[in-house]
Amino acid sequence: MILRIISTAGSVIMADGGLSEVEQQRPSRITVLRKTLSDIAANPLDCPRGLIGQHYVDEEYFAYEKATVLQAGWHCVGRVDELPEKGDYRTFKLFDELIILVNSGDGIKALSNLCRHRGMPLAQGCGNARMFVCPYHAWSYKISGDLIRAPRMENKSFNPETCSLPKFPCVEKFGFVYVSLSDTPTNLVEDLKDLTEKLHSYNPSFYRLVHTADEVWNTNWKCLVENFMEGYHLSVVHPKTLHGYTPTELSKKGPSGLGFTSYTAHYPDHISSRGRGSDKLSESERHASFLFAAFPCQVVSIAPPLLVSLSLLPRSSSRVDVRWTMSVYGEELDAQTIDARIALWTEVNREDREKLELMQEALGSRYANGGPLAGPDYEGTVRDFVVWLASRDKEIQQKK
Ligand code: FES
Ligand SMILES: [Fe+2]
Repeated sequence: MILRIISTAGSVIMADGGLSEVEQQRPSRITVLRKTLSDIAANPLDCPRGLIGQHYVDEEYFAYEKATVLQAGWHCVGRVDELPEKGDYRTFKLFDELIILVNSGDGIKALSNLCRHRGMPLAQGCGNARMFVCPYHAWSYKISGDLIRAPRMENKSFNPETCSLPKFPCVEKFGFVYVSLSDTPTNLVEDLKDLTEKLHSYNPSFYRLVHTADEVWNTNWKCLVENFMEGYHLSVVHPKTLHGYTPTELSKKGPSGLGFTSYTAHYPDHISSRGRGSDKLSESERHASFLFAAFPCQVVSIAPPLLVSLSLLPRSSSRVDVRWTMSVYGEELDAQTIDARIALWTEVNREDREKLELMQEALGSRYANGGPLAGPDYEGTVRDFVVWLASRDKEIQQKK
């Protein structure tokens, strides 16, 4: 069956992100915006530019992104230590899919949270389960997803073996859980290869979760990625919260790879390190925060004792659900310090959100035509993101 998304403008995007015949015959807004993305990404290193306003406000373009680069991507859906015991589960919606994330006793699995009978969600919220029993007609499933029992199903054509819950690709990395909705996702290990090397000394799996918050930001998801990943705004937007530790002038571009970009926010000499963290860290690493984006939708700040991650779930061109988590290194920080860090990051996020929501209002202007970016240390990560968006778009189209 071919699914179509009818845009507000009346043009048609196929559910797999392809363009309909009509769209192929005349340059649609999508075609124009894809070409503009590709042109901006092709700008030489010494004259980088940002995306144009329509990349951030056009609802039809958002539907195209959702059907392509977003659905095909890997999404951070939580920390491994949120599900410590066999049977622990948490449910959520990732774009159009309801998912049960469950500790199966053999790793964390991402099961479709949809009964194979007539489609009732099997579980809600979070908890611990030995099995999932459908609240509609009581079909029951193992936590591995296999169907156990379907009462009164005597129809001869009924084959229980074809009624297991589908599983989504699911990978544990850095103590995070990543899920993709694609049947043929990219190789996450390859995508994050150089990042894995860089994070090795932090011992990222050792951080334990102490705080989660769910928020709705009225901004485009790409603005949030770009904002988190550039050090250019730090001293201006966060004069009281971050500037003292991570002033703009000490931002330095870090490594980038197939699926990520990064930068380091160094602390001034007169500021002491914020904690010790892993034994493998160098003194220089202890005197900085390292920030990375795992494309498309996760942004992270890691410092020796503290790991803050924002997982973005884009809902429309101007709305993104944000789940942010804070984890701390072992038992290093006491409760009072942890509370102070949560308050600090709550305020930092509020400061960013206020600016991004103001900017979203302006980006529909005809003058929002892609301004020049600052150099690599300040906005090189934004350029990396634009280049990644363009290359993923091209790859996805070439696969068709
Ligand atoms: S919908 Fe689940 S048993 Fe009927
Ligand atoms: Fe910020």
